[in-house]
Amino acid sequence: MSKIEISEVKLTEEEIQAAVDVLRSGNLRQNGQCDAFEREFASMVGADHALTCANGTASLHLAYMSFLKPGDEVLVPSFTFLATGSMVAMSGGRPVFCDIDPQTLLIDLGDAEKRVTERTRAIAPVHLFGNPVDADAVAEFAARHNLIVVWDAAQAHGASWANRDVGSFGDFVCYSFYPSKNMFVGEGGMICTNNPEYDQKMRLLRSHGESGKYLHTVLGFNYRMTDVEAAIGRRQLLRLDQMLARRRANAQVLSAGLESIPGLRAQKTTRQGVHAWHQYCLVVDGDQFGCSRDGLAERLKQRGVGSGVHYPRGLHQQPVFEQLYGPLSLPVTEKTAETILALPVHHGLTVDDARAVVEAVRQCRG
Ligand SMILES: Cc1ncc(COP(=O)(O)O)c(C=O)c1O
Repeated sequence: MSKIEISEVKLTEEEIQAAVDVLRSGNLRQNGQCDAFEREFASMVGADHALTCANGTASLHLAYMSFLKPGDEVLVPSFTFLATGSMVAMSGGRPVFCDIDPQTLLIDLGDAEKRVTERTRAIAPVHLFGNPVDADAVAEFAARHNLIVVWDAAQAHGASWANRDVGSFGDFVCYSFYPSKNMFVGEGGMICTNNPEYDQKMRLLRSHGESGKYLHTVLGFNYRMTDVEAAIGRRQLLRLDQMLARRRANAQVLSAGLESIPGLRAQKTTRQGVHAWHQYCLVVDGDQFGCSRDGLAERLKQRGVGSGVHYPRGLHQQPVFEQLYGPLSLPVTEKTAETILALPVHHGLTVDDARAVVEAVRQCRG
């Protein structure tokens, strides 16, 4: 079997040409392409405002810097990429790590409830691997505790919940365009919001707090995107639906082929959710399947099939957070981190490739 990679990051000729046109124009900084990308992205997801920025990490930083006060606490699922938690800390707040639901692998609001204090200011649900979080449950939780919601949609371009694109959900929705994501421009990020004040604040923070030429009214950063990435992003928006359709068709083949295999359990899509399949993740029960997660990864590699471990530890198990906040036990996160494996599902795969992945997994049993 030829090698089936875990991700696909090739730009189309049209996307490359769009970047070349900007390079030729000499307009390398944030400019008209960024403005147009913001308008088109906002319109696609149904948000009032969208703001380009340097990367997904910067999008989270800008969101938190626009409202968080020192010592404020933010409820963060422990099973996610580092930046979901680290940007809270870098903005002067404290991420309070919560456990996840073992089926959906998304924040467990029951566990989060136990961690609410008088300092809790926000909640940061992550649409992990593209699986949309139940937005009604989050809205009810946030309203009851008077919290701001910072959605981490870095992996969820095109995901929807109850027929609404996840980008339309409200306070802050943060995206990444890092290679390997469902949309990829190199380095890049976007924040959607329906709140004009947050939009204005983040625009100031994005560019040194400059409200007029060399007039700086707040402390800020240089977190701007350039027109090169924006031009690629605009072109890529035109094929996002097509790329998502491929991911969804591949996920369907994987699910149909794998669900009867003892010892394997795929991430469960939330009720009313339309998954964007950034990753297709299995939880492996080594005793039932006949080999461990790491054993399966190794056997797949021998058969020319790539796989990935996202993530090998929860954020509460990261040395940086253990040093800052001390030890914490979150059993579902810890067990998931030991047993999870991502299989190829990306838009570059055909349905036949997905079938070949299923067959390779079957051969790895016992
Ligand atoms: C869930 C999540 N949040 C935030 C980020 C940060 O995005 P970036 O790598 O563009 O800074 C990522 C990227 O891997 C991510 O997966």
